[in-house]
Amino acid sequence: MTEISFGFIDRRVMAAVERVAASDPDPGDPFRGLYISDEVALRLSHGEGSADSDGRLQEVVRALGLDLLEAAVLAVCSATELNPRYGRLYAYLQDDVTRKLPSPRLVGQLLEGEGLTPADVMVAFDAGGRLRSLGALKLLGDAQTPLAERPIKIADRLAAVLLGGRMDESPQPTRLRLIDLPAHDPGRAEAVEMMAALLARPSHLPIVLAGPDADTLIATALGRPLVAVHVRDLGDKDVMAEAALISALEDRPIVFEGLEDVEPADRARTLRAIEARPERTVLAAPTRTAALALGERTVLLVEAGPPSFAERRQAWADLTGVADTDDVAAKFRLSMTQIIEAAEVARLSAVARGLETPERSDLDAGARQASSSKLGELAARLPPGYKWEDLVVPPKQTEQLQSISAYLRHRDRVLSDWGYERTVSRTQGLKVLFAGESGTGKTMGSQVIAAELGLEIFRVDLATTVSKYIGETEKNLDRIFGAAEGSNAILFFDEADALFGKRSETSDSHDRYANIEVAYLLQKMEGYPGAVILATNFRRNIDDAFIRRLDFVIDFPFPEKEDRKRIWQKVLPPEAPLADDIDLDFLAEKFKLSGGAIRNCSLAGAFEAADDDSPIGMRHLVRAVANEYGKQGRLTLEADFGSFHEVIKVGAKAAAGNGFR
Ligand SMILES: Nc1ncnc2c1ncn2[C@@H]1O[C@H](COP(=O)(O)OP(=O)(O)OP(=O)(O)O)[C@@H](O)[C@H]1O
Ligand SMILES: [Mg+2]
Repeated sequence: MTEISFGFIDRRVMAAVERVAASDPDPGDPFRGLYISDEVALRLSHGEGSADSDGRLQEVVRALGLDLLEAAVLAVCSATELNPRYGRLYAYLQDDVTRKLPSPRLVGQLLEGEGLTPADVMVAFDAGGRLRSLGALKLLGDAQTPLAERPIKIADRLAAVLLGGRMDESPQPTRLRLIDLPAHDPGRAEAVEMMAALLARPSHLPIVLAGPDADTLIATALGRPLVAVHVRDLGDKDVMAEAALISALEDRPIVFEGLEDVEPADRARTLRAIEARPERTVLAAPTRTAALALGERTVLLVEAGPPSFAERRQAWADLTGVADTDDVAAKFRLSMTQIIEAAEVARLSAVARGLETPERSDLDAGARQASSSKLGELAARLPPGYKWEDLVVPPKQTEQLQSISAYLRHRDRVLSDWGYERTVSRTQGLKVLFAGESGTGKTMGSQVIAAELGLEIFRVDLATTVSKYIGETEKNLDRIFGAAEGSNAILFFDEADALFGKRSETSDSHDRYANIEVAYLLQKMEGYPGAVILATNFRRNIDDAFIRRLDFVIDFPFPEKEDRKRIWQKVLPPEAPLADDIDLDFLAEKFKLSGGAIRNCSLAGAFEAADDDSPIGMRHLVRAVANEYGKQGRLTLEADFGSFHEVIKVGAKAAAGNGFR
C-alpha cells in the first residue's frame, strides 16, 4: 500500500471491533446503555469513507512530508474530527465511553500487523518526530496518565483543513503573523534580487533583511507568502510547532522578526536558539541597528532603504487612481506597507463623501493616519489650524520659513531622484533652530509649516526630557526618536536650552556629560528622516559649534509697532463685537507686547467685555494690558497708558459703576 485512506482505517477499526465483540464475555450485560453496545459498535464500524476527506488527507500528508506510518497515525487520530462515529468506536475499543480520543496504545493496536509491531507505531509519537514537531499531534492528559494512555488531539488548524476548511481562512494565530505577497510591487528591486540570490544558495548563516517593509520584501524575494515568528518565541515549542504547521500546510516559509525588541541581556539566548535550528534562519529587521542584536555572529545582511520617491509616487497612483501624487509622495516618507494602508483610508474617505477618486486632502489624511505613531504617548500633538497669513513676522523670516516648507516638499526629488544624496552626501532630515523671546511665534510658525504640508507635529518639552541622571537623557531621547520612527511627523523640541543651558553652570559635576547629551541629540536629529525644530528663548546659550550643524536658524524678532498692529488685527476675530473706541494704532504703539501677550490681552479683554455685557472696548483691552504688564513685572507708566491711565487704577472698575463686582 502506498497511500493511507480512511477506508483503510475503517477496515482496521472494524476488525478490532469484531474482535472485541466476539470475545465479549457477557453479551447480556444489564448495564447495556451506559456504554456502547456490541451491536451498536458493529453497526457504526460499517460506515462509509468519503473520497473528499481522502483527497484532503493526501494533500495534508504531502504538505507535511509524512511517511506511510505517520500518515496512518494521522488518519487514525483525525478520524474523530471527521465523523463522530469514530469517537464512539474508539470509546468502545478503549472500554470507556468518555475516551473518544485515541491513545497511542489504541493507535498501535489498530495499525499493528503486516510486520508492524505496536512498538514500531510508537515511534511516530516521538517528540522529535515530524508529527509532534510540526504540532500536528498533541498528547493531552497530565503526568499521572501513562504515556501510552494519553489522549491524542490533532491540531485544530489541521482538523479544519481535513474538514475542508479553506486554508486561507484558518484563524489568525495570536503570536504569529501571516505576511502575504504585497498588493503592490514594493520596489527596491536591487535588495529583493540580492535577497533572492542569497536565499537560493545553501548556507547555514542566518540571513537578515533590514529596512522598511523587510517582511514584504522577503516574501517578494521568495515569491511566497510568509509566516512570521517573533524571535522571543524561538524557545517556545508550541508557537514554533504552530508556525511549522502553518508553514508546511500553506507553503509559507518562516521568517523571524522582533530583533529590535531583544534586550541586550537576551541576545545570547536568541543567538543560541538561532544556532540550534537545523535550517537556515531568515530574519526581517526594521533597521540596520536592530540587526545588531545578533551581535558578533556573522550574518548575511541585505539592506533595503525606504521606497524611493518615484516608487512611492507610483504606488500612490496605482492604489488610489489619482493622477498627480507628487505632493503626497514627497511629503510623507512612508514605507510600502504604510502606503497600502494609507491608500485604503484615502479611498474609503473619498467614497464616504460620494467621490470616485480621493482628493488631495484624502491622500494627506490617509498618509497621516498610516504614519501616526506611538509618539502620542510621549509628546503632545499640536493642533493644525494656523495659516501663513495668520503669522506676522518680517519678510525675511517668512521667506526662511517658506524655504523650510519647500525643502520638506522637494527633498526627495532633489536628493534621491536627482541623485544629490550621493554627490553631496546629504541625509534627508532637516535640523532647524527657532530662536526668540516668548510669544514671538516659534510654536505658531512650526504649526503653520506642518499645516501647509499636511504633516503632524508633536511637541516635546526638552526641559522634562533632560534628566540629571547620567544616561537617562539619552534613554529619553531614544524613546522619543524611536516612537517617531516612520511617523514623518515634525518634531518640535521646546525649551531646547534646557540641554545646553547646563554648560554655563560650571560648578555642576554633571557638566562634562552635557556635551555628550548635546552630541547625542544631534546624532539622533541627523538620523531622523523628518524635520526636527528646536525652539529656544536663549539663543546665546547654544553653542556655536552646534548651531553650525543646523540647516536653518530663524530668529523670531520681537514685533515692531506695525507688526504689533497687524497682530492686534489678527487676534480680534471679525465676529467679535467691537466698540467704536478701539484704537489699534494706540495699542500697537504704546504697548511693547509680543504676539503671545497681544493674544492673551485680546482674549482677556473679550472675557471682561462679555462679563460687562458690552462690546469689547478700549477699557477692556487696556485693563488686560495692564494685567499682562503686571504678570511680566513691568510698570504701568502714565506715559504709556495716557488717557487710559485712570481705567487701570485699582478700583477703577467699581467706580465706573459698570456692574463689575
Ligand atoms: N508672530 C506672530 N504672529 C501672529 N500671532 C502671533 C505671533 N506670535 C505669537 N502670536 C500669537 O501668540 C500665540 C503664542 O505664540 P507662540 O506659542 O507661537 O509663541 P512662542 O514663540 O512659541 O512662545 P514660547 O517661547 O513662550 O513658547 C500664538 O498662538 C498666536 O496667537
Ligand atoms: Mg512655544
